Amino acid sequence: MSPIFIGLMSGTSADAIDGVAVSFDQDEVRIHATQSDPMCATLRCRITDIMQGRNDDLDSLAALDIDLSNAFAECAVKLATQLKASPLAIGCHGQTVRHRPERRFTVQLGSGAVIATRSGIPTVTDFRSADIALGGQGAPLVPAFHCDVFGSKEEDRAIVNIGGIANVTLLPKNGGVSGFDTGPGNTLLDLCYRRHWGGQWDTDGAWSLTGEVSHTLLARLLADEYFSRPAPKSTGLEYFSPDWLAKSLIGNERPQDLQATLRELTATGIATAINEELPKARAVYLCGGGARNSALKQAIDVLIPNTKVASTMELGIDPGWVEACAFAWLARQRLEEKPGNLPSVTGANRATVLGALHLP
Ligand SMILES: Nc1ncnc2c1ncn2[C@@H]1O[C@H](COP(=O)(O)OP(=O)(O)OP(=O)(O)O)[C@@H](O)[C@H]1O
Ligand SMILES: [Mg+2]
Repeated sequence: MSPIFIGLMSGTSADAIDGVAVSFDQDEVRIHATQSDPMCATLRCRITDIMQGRNDDLDSLAALDIDLSNAFAECAVKLATQLKASPLAIGCHGQTVRHRPERRFTVQLGSGAVIATRSGIPTVTDFRSADIALGGQGAPLVPAFHCDVFGSKEEDRAIVNIGGIANVTLLPKNGGVSGFDTGPGNTLLDLCYRRHWGGQWDTDGAWSLTGEVSHTLLARLLADEYFSRPAPKSTGLEYFSPDWLAKSLIGNERPQDLQATLRELTATGIATAINEELPKARAVYLCGGGARNSALKQAIDVLIPNTKVASTMELGIDPGWVEACAFAWLARQRLEEKPGNLPSVTGANRATVLGALHLP
């Protein structure tokens, strides 16, 4: 039987630690176990604080690093106990708290030493810094995995991950994969929803459908130079932040109209990437939490009229687990000493093996 790898993902939304135990048989992905541990409110608060530059002193940062590492290890142990065979390695993305490729750094919390020793399983972390050291963005990293498992020789297709930030992978049938972060995914939608309602998120985008899109506000938001900047490009929550949104608001917007407008902003970023970079795409497959937002999916569909918009479920992987699977796959690449980055995506000056391996 092919070896099992554990993938752990905690994205910028800081909603949960998503874990999968998975094997790759001739690049067919087989999921053996899944585990989603919701991030407790205190941890989420500490993460958001540090992301937004509050309480980001060294003591707070190091303490959060340890607490998150223990939470990652716990998730891995829960997965391992569901398996018949021991997993070969864990690939842990870690929690991004700062992403500034323009200043040549990116920071993910989660200590490989803690996770490996607590779980007893070799652990790969720090996937992004080698790509940045080679002049790349260090992001997005999932396109190599998307290309390997979702690539098709029959049709041009795109894979779109809608997490806090949204990223697209363009897979032409004749090869030549590309990809980049398109801009905000769920982050501003979550922000607007939480400010108005408290709670977690706008389930299925239902509240956004009660509002009207403000085309003037949408145009002001889309005027940001990030949207027209050519790839390679990547971004984070320190850029598409509450302050970024506040700069464009007049202050008298109805909250439901703002939510509708933010839905269109996310949809437009994604649709423009596909319409401009892969206009002949026959299908677009969505993954990440935003794939569950049916109003957002519908908005994307309207903006790319001749292309089918579906979920990665149609390609055999539940949209909620794709990112975690990608980090399990990247751990396998690391153990086999194969490259994990795609220079055509990140802009690094060469492909390289990604990640630091920690033994228990
Ligand atoms: N049923 C739903 N309806 C609408 N939105 C949803 C639903 N379920 C999840 N979401 C959205 O998905 C988000 C979580 O998505 P996900 O876990 O993919 O993002 P992430 O953790 O930021 O990952 P990354 O940024 O690394 O891709 C939530 O914050 C929420 O906005
Ligand atoms: Mg998440």
